[in-house]
Amino acid sequence: MSRQSKKILFDEHEIAAAVRRMASEMRENHPEGGVVFIGILKGAFVLLADLIRSFDRPCEVDFARIASYGSGTVSSGRVDVRMDVQTPIEGRSVILVDDIVDTGLTLSEYRRMLLDRGPASVEIAALIDKSARREKQVDVDYYGFRIEDGFVVGYGLDCDEQYRNLCSICVLEDTNH
Ligand code: PRP
Repeated sequence: MSRQSKKILFDEHEIAAAVRRMASEMRENHPEGGVVFIGILKGAFVLLADLIRSFDRPCEVDFARIASYGSGTVSSGRVDVRMDVQTPIEGRSVILVDDIVDTGLTLSEYRRMLLDRGPASVEIAALIDKSARREKQVDVDYYGFRIEDGFVVGYGLDCDEQYRNLCSICVLEDTNH
């Protein structure tokens, strides 16, 4: 019988330090603030909440919801904008925030769509930059951790909608009993 076990990859202290570092890098690039943060739902909500408080500069927050279809499906390489950002971004400095970059489809495609609206810049922030399944190149301007592979959950990341509320990032592993 196969079961899944969780192993802590990054604990809450390591995550807090990574988020502080990301926010500090953002402050260096945007010392006056004025940034529009766009969180990609659902996974980004935990990171975004911590990030904007650590950023500690004037900013706005909005959300988008994007579904991506990997190369194994009919809609290969396409993304579906289920809920678009409402904030006008023309001339604004935007930071797209997500929990993880995996194939890269979600952020590369949504960034491309946002660039058509004439923002001053669109940067990308992700807690986990995972490289094993990358299909689209994404320049991650601010990252917490880089990993090669593994199914990770916690701190916003889910498996069938479970585990988003874990304080740590854990890797799920199959165990045979
Ligand atoms: C996950 C994650 C990213 C996206 C990354 O979202 O939160 O948004 O996938 O994958 P990609 O780089 O391969 O495009 P998911 O679609 O699982 O939705 P969720 O955030 O609601 O869990």
